[in-house]
Amino acid sequence: MATHKLPVSASKKITPREASTVTAVEMGARQREISVSEFFTKNRHLLGFDNPRKALLTCVKEAVDNALDACEEAGILPEVTVQLEVVAIGSSAVLPASQATRFRVTVVDNGPGIVRQQIPKIFAKLLYGSKFHRLRMSRGQQGIGISAAGMYGQLTTGKPVKIISRIGPKAAAHYFEVQIDTKKNEPLVHENKQIEWSQPRGTQVAIEVEGRYQKGRASVDEYLDQTSIANPHVRLMYRTPEGETKEYPRAYHELPPSPKEIKPHPYGIEFGMFLKMLQDAKSQTLSSFLSSDFCRVTPALADEMCKTAKISPKAKPRDIRGAIAESLYHTIQATKIMAPPTNCLSPIGEKAILSGLYRQIKGEFYTAVSRPPSVYRGNPFIIEAGLAFGQAPGSAAKSEKPAQPLAEGEKEEGESELARVIRYANRVPLLYQQSACAIFKAVLATTWRNYGISQSCGALPAGPMVIFVHIASVWVPFTSESKEAIAEYDEIHKEITLALRECGRRLGLFLRRRERAASEYRRRNIFELYIEEVVEACNRLKGGKLPTEKLKAQLQKIASSRTGGIKTDETLGKTGAGPEGLPHSIIVTAEGVDGETPLAVGVSDTEPIEENPAPSKPARKETAKARPAKKKSSSQRPAGAVRKGRKARLTGKKK
Ligand SMILES: Nc1ncnc2c1ncn2[C@@H]1O[C@H](COP(=O)(O)OP(=O)(O)OP(=O)(O)O)[C@@H](O)[C@H]1O
Ligand SMILES: [Mg+2]
Repeated sequence: MATHKLPVSASKKITPREASTVTAVEMGARQREISVSEFFTKNRHLLGFDNPRKALLTCVKEAVDNALDACEEAGILPEVTVQLEVVAIGSSAVLPASQATRFRVTVVDNGPGIVRQQIPKIFAKLLYGSKFHRLRMSRGQQGIGISAAGMYGQLTTGKPVKIISRIGPKAAAHYFEVQIDTKKNEPLVHENKQIEWSQPRGTQVAIEVEGRYQKGRASVDEYLDQTSIANPHVRLMYRTPEGETKEYPRAYHELPPSPKEIKPHPYGIEFGMFLKMLQDAKSQTLSSFLSSDFCRVTPALADEMCKTAKISPKAKPRDIRGAIAESLYHTIQATKIMAPPTNCLSPIGEKAILSGLYRQIKGEFYTAVSRPPSVYRGNPFIIEAGLAFGQAPGSAAKSEKPAQPLAEGEKEEGESELARVIRYANRVPLLYQQSACAIFKAVLATTWRNYGISQSCGALPAGPMVIFVHIASVWVPFTSESKEAIAEYDEIHKEITLALRECGRRLGLFLRRRERAASEYRRRNIFELYIEEVVEACNRLKGGKLPTEKLKAQLQKIASSRTGGIKTDETLGKTGAGPEGLPHSIIVTAEGVDGETPLAVGVSDTEPIEENPAPSKPARKETAKARPAKKKSSSQRPAGAVRKGRKARLTGKKK
């Protein structure tokens, strides 16, 4: 066979050393460390600052999320004020909000405040925070949010972040102006002084940024609307750049139970992570390491696991390496260990979800489901789902209420009747990257046709419907640092699907019940059509002596009672009793259907409804009762046990 070697002269021609090429030594001389701030300055889109409109939202979101986290951690009912102001550029005039390109975002909270020494690092050093190294449910987790907002402001306007913070009425308020030295990722303090501040405690952050203000989907307004749905214990004040003041009053007067910090659960923890934990262990023995560095591992269970893996419980954790470590790891994974505790999570709760949905969306049917806790990669999480279905009468003919802001990718009402998905992670609304999110994918993958809702292949189910999904976790797996979409772990996908199926099953029951009522109503109409004729004929037979009006009324009564009576009318919302033209709505929770709550016991018009033929879990016996939707204030509402029960459920106030 002919050789493939090239003649020496030819090979020289192919690989001449071009003047422009560099040597390894030259390349080596160019290597430089990259600071995290330099990296994110170039890649600000990774932090949610890709366009001015989104950047404005991200700044508000980071500051509000921090304010709520701080208040809740300190056990303070949050009161947060958000102010957006248009800022004039140079000597030019102040533009109207819709045309302005520069804004000042100011967020004030009544939280615990920040100690003076920490202020520069918190606001002007990326990857600095109190939440990253612990397993506790909170809105923030990465230690990058507020300093990134400050860095974006510095990059686009050159202005420093201005902070006022006070840790108590007896302490002085401190004023700081800080910027980031992006080369070193260290704070530069421009101003630091004590000032008079009217607030006894709390923090105020003001950042000047390049932005665009536009209402509608994925706007600051929508973010605050949705924040108030999932955080009914928060009082929010919003001063829009147009000078309006919007108030979101507090609907719950208690803080949600404070989530506890936990240790990782042994299930799902990766081997590499396990090795690192062994090397970093502070415990002297393997047994005490297992029981103190993991949750749900008792000393007895730790000894048992060491025995099964044939390792001494007294061995030093640092000495466990290689094959022994692997054998121990597999033993742990095969051991039956209790599920993680739930006190590390603070779900919104079915009642609060219903209350939020009811406040924001007028429909005919509402339900909410909280799944039991589950674990992914050793991190506990809970999925909650809610569903509001239907439309208030007259809302199709454009009510006086402004249109609901739409989720990303959603079309205007009327344009399309597709469902709207509202996503939350640790009570924070997620407004961007809907199609990359595990929640959205699970909604698409659910077969809504099983529950009587039409759905085109690969599309959202038909509306009018709002689907609400919340993931509460000690560590939410976001797809990027901008915290906009949730990664698709199998365990998370499965839990979302199960929650959606349960909501769908309940909706299916409601729709079938309504369908039956519609059929009964049609039957009644046919009877009524002939009543006149029958009465006339009977009267003729009796020689015109029959009390026709009385007979007509009696026959009408029979026609009504044979076709479901008042319940048919109520189910179809035809009694006209719904206040302010609202339809009758039903609310279904794990406790049952509205009317089955303890206060409503004894209400006679509940009726059993059939079980779903293919429920996702063993079906409970449910009853449904159509009840008028209420929009009146409590003072207008007539007193009554059932109504009181409904009000308490919706507002969450203790009876
Ligand atoms: N308003 C505030 N009141 C009290 N502490 C605050 C406030 N804002 C921020 N902090 C503290 O500053 C830290 C850094 O905040 P930052 O937003 O940068 O990160 P994070 O909230 O920990 O995580 P993420 O990057 O996910 O937002 C927080 O961990 C918190 O301890
Ligand atoms: Mg934060």
